[in-house]
Amino acid sequence: MLKILFVCLGNICRSPLAEAMFREKVENKGLSGHITCDSAGTGNYHVGEDPDERSIEIARKYNFPMIHKGRQLLAPDGKAFDYILAMDTSNHRNILRILNEQHAGLYLLGDFDPLEKGGEVPDPYFGGLDGFEDVYEILDRTLDHFLEFLIERHQLKHV
Ligand code: 4NP
Repeated sequence: MLKILFVCLGNICRSPLAEAMFREKVENKGLSGHITCDSAGTGNYHVGEDPDERSIEIARKYNFPMIHKGRQLLAPDGKAFDYILAMDTSNHRNILRILNEQHAGLYLLGDFDPLEKGGEVPDPYFGGLDGFEDVYEILDRTLDHFLEFLIERHQLKHV
């Protein structure tokens, strides 16, 4: 089983959306027996909280389930997960600080963006709902490509 962790700052806006969207994509490809996912934040401001209302609104609009309580990234997550996907370069830096060692599966999620390789999933927290729509669009195309990467690299066959 491949274990995937999506990480942002607060774990209430971007990474819970990424987790929920990716789970849906994995299920649609019949790969739930091969891939599991979770999300976490580098900060501890929203531990135990539900996702942001605006992320919930996006999940409702695009009709996918999202059940998550905010949690902070911890050092043992480095050993527990095969892939850790950072939403932006600041998250990437903080992930390395928290894990306190290199991680072979640590990537910027934007490395898989077919339109803007190495781009960031911008923090939408201080903006309006349109920023969350932008996040949804970036995640939608980028998660598709990340899933294709996993399928090829690990020779995954749907069940
Ligand atoms: P997220 O967004 O990292 O996508 O969950 C944020 C949520 C909360 C804060 C910043 C970003 N905050 O400063 O509390």
